Amino acid sequence: MLIIIMPKNKLLKYERVKRLPNVTFSVLGESPLPGSYPWHDERYQGMQKILELGCGKGEYSLAFAAANPRKLCVGVDCKSHRMCVGAELAIAQGLENVHFLRARIERIGEFFLKHAIHEIWLTFPDPHPKHRAIKSRLSAAFFLDAYANLLIPGGTVYLKTDSDLLYDYTRESVRRWGGREVAKSDGAHGTGCSASGACEAVSAYEQAARSRGAAIQFMAFKLN
Ligand SMILES: C[S@@+](CC[C@H](N)C(=O)[O-])C[C@H]1O[C@@H](n2cnc3c(N)ncnc32)[C@H](O)[C@@H]1O
Repeated sequence: MLIIIMPKNKLLKYERVKRLPNVTFSVLGESPLPGSYPWHDERYQGMQKILELGCGKGEYSLAFAAANPRKLCVGVDCKSHRMCVGAELAIAQGLENVHFLRARIERIGEFFLKHAIHEIWLTFPDPHPKHRAIKSRLSAAFFLDAYANLLIPGGTVYLKTDSDLLYDYTRESVRRWGGREVAKSDGAHGTGCSASGACEAVSAYEQAARSRGAAIQFMAFKLN
């Protein structure tokens, strides 16, 4: 029998996050209509929508929400104890235009209406360096198909990464898919990433990468 011992703090977050009003859990096997999720509430109608995929503790989602009070930001991650940090901070800061979704990004198309999203942010996604895991990269063709369905015509996908491998792969994957790159920077800290106030935020992961002296790269692309 395998016994997993989890740090107490992590366990407490797993419990607390279930009761937060700004967190939605996807339940495997249950598929409510996309229109029934909180981000389609009347109070958000007419607001542009930003998705942060793989949001971790949600630093970017919070920064987008703070910098863009008339936009709604939804942070998505499969690790609920991480988003607990962002969701609790959002409540403490009185940010009502940010929400979190605990779900796998592979299922992202189930939660949003077609062509309803203005921006998608991939903030330091796992690079999945092994060949057998290429299809798990968030810029693989399978994911680009899903993003193209979600984005409004002319909507933008943004990537910030400290992985040269993922950066080069994404450029090639977008090109092969038929998308077009609209901005990029190889600057040490991803200069050029000022869209939606992204420069105001530094996530825990990004801070660690910077401390190691890693170069942060940024790109933006369109799929439709
Ligand atoms: C390297 S961390 C970056 C987190 C955050 N964006 C940051 O900058 O600190 C990647 C995050 O993506 C999430 N993630 C990776 N693959 C995922 C998937 N297929 N579905 C949902 N979340 C995923 C992980 O749980 C993790 O929190």
